[in-house]
Amino acid sequence: MKTDWNKRYSVEEYVYGKQPNYFFRTVMDTLSPGKILLPAEGEGRNGVYAACRKWDVMAFDSSPVARQKALKLAGENGVEINYHVCDYPDFNCHESVFDAIAFIYAHLPDKQKHTYYRRLFLCLKTGGKVIFEAFSKNQQKYQLDDPQAGGPRDPGMLFSKEEVEEIFTGFALLKLEEEKILLSEGPGHTGYASVVRCVAEKI
Ligand SMILES: C[S@@+](CC[C@H](N)C(=O)[O-])C[C@H]1O[C@@H](n2cnc3c(N)ncnc32)[C@H](O)[C@@H]1O
Repeated sequence: MKTDWNKRYSVEEYVYGKQPNYFFRTVMDTLSPGKILLPAEGEGRNGVYAACRKWDVMAFDSSPVARQKALKLAGENGVEINYHVCDYPDFNCHESVFDAIAFIYAHLPDKQKHTYYRRLFLCLKTGGKVIFEAFSKNQQKYQLDDPQAGGPRDPGMLFSKEEVEEIFTGFALLKLEEEKILLSEGPGHTGYASVVRCVAEKI
């Protein structure tokens, strides 16, 4: 799995582009800067955007190739991000440190997503926000029509709205929607897509 991502990222171009994810940017633009955690950050597009807006950025991803590209992108933008190469369970999770956590296309196998996500919620301060966007179960329809459509092919890694609601049990849900969107995020995310978007506040 890790090898697959390293191979995917071993090209000059940025697989999901250098611009931040639209939903992430839209929500971030409403928040005051603080400390943010970006799990499965990939090539750094979101962390670099946050750092440019004066956030203190901590990121991790299991791919060292992704980290290299993220640090290069940070350098191009004259900012710094703190980026660890590690797997979800190995991230050193101290309690109540972050003002925000953003899971952007941070897909995981069915058996892991609930546990790994909820463990990271411990790092969030009370009142802290979680920003979440990922492909929904309905993305399978787009994948059938178009082999280039984004998202994991394992249906267990896709999300239903109900499942996201369950993951965020105990949070105030400020937004939870399944939406059809037009993705234009580098060669990796193009065309129509079905996603779940959520903004949740730790109470
Ligand atoms: C679809 S990419 C999304 C990257 C980034 N969040 C973005 O939106 O540009 C998924 C990322 O998850 C990372 N990943 C997959 N499984 C992981 C795991 N168990 N622990 C840490 N990172 C993982 C991959 O290396 C990859 O960079």
